[in-house]
Amino acid sequence: MRLKGKVAVITGAARGIGAAFALGFAKEGAKIVIADLSDGTDTVKKVEKAGSEALFIRTDVSKESECIGMAEKGFERFGRIDILINNAAVFADLVLRPFTEISSEEFKRVVEINTSGLFHCTKAVFPYMKAKGGKIINMSSASILEGVPGMPHYVASKGAVMAMTRSMARELGDFKINVNTIAPGFTHSEGGDKFDRSKALPLPPLEELQLQHRCIKRAAVPEDLVGTAIFLATDDSAFVTGQMIVHDGGLSFH
Ligand SMILES: NC(=O)c1ccc[n+]([C@@H]2O[C@H](COP(=O)([O-])OP(=O)(O)OC[C@H]3O[C@@H](n4cnc5c(N)ncnc54)[C@H](O)[C@@H]3O)[C@@H](O)[C@H]2O)c1
Repeated sequence: MRLKGKVAVITGAARGIGAAFALGFAKEGAKIVIADLSDGTDTVKKVEKAGSEALFIRTDVSKESECIGMAEKGFERFGRIDILINNAAVFADLVLRPFTEISSEEFKRVVEINTSGLFHCTKAVFPYMKAKGGKIINMSSASILEGVPGMPHYVASKGAVMAMTRSMARELGDFKINVNTIAPGFTHSEGGDKFDRSKALPLPPLEELQLQHRCIKRAAVPEDLVGTAIFLATDDSAFVTGQMIVHDGGLSFH
């Protein structure tokens, strides 16, 4: 068990990729704090079935005070925080459309959740990590390399995630905190599936487009990402920081 005795805060773990991380980490012995706007009790049950413990704390990551409260409660329950996965994001309910049809309010909302949310959660857990060190994993997206059209707000918010990862890696290295990014290509999560159906641009479905150009020509599922997250959460990656691991089946190289 590679994460025995560790506590991981995973945002957006009520479903999709975050839920797969929660289950995968639980199987490695970690206790999990599920910070999500949606109900996370299903994930709590899955974690418990896997033999570990989880606490669901309803949290809107775009609100700094809620993130601070979430970290306090998580620490109160488990006595430590070793890992943070900044995974929560608006994604599923975005509609691909020409940028001229995206309102300034929608742009701001996406950045507030996908970028500021990560900033809030990192600030909130830092006090509990700084004495002993830790691991922070930020979920970006391979769309920042591909230049996916119709979603400039999402792509911008995820580009900022990569840029912030580098900046935070420099700042937190002295605290023995590694900060890295995982950038998935289109992945069949609950959100991913919903998203692909809601396109409004004259483009082939995102997955069809990606499959044509992937080296590994198959669909991606959340479980594909779990091993990389475990690697980045353990001392196997002790000397790896400020990096982005792209999980898109070889669609884009960087
Ligand atoms: N699925 C893909 O194809 C894909 C591709 C690239 C990157 N990603 C990234 O991976 C991560 C997980 O994606 P997913 O496909 O599992 O998404 P998903 O939509 O299935 O799940 C996202 C979770 O985040 C939660 N969430 C949304 N807004 C929140 C908020 N303000 N506060 C707290 N929680 C909130 C939702 O309730 C949900 O449980 C996201 O960061 C996403 O951008 C996904």
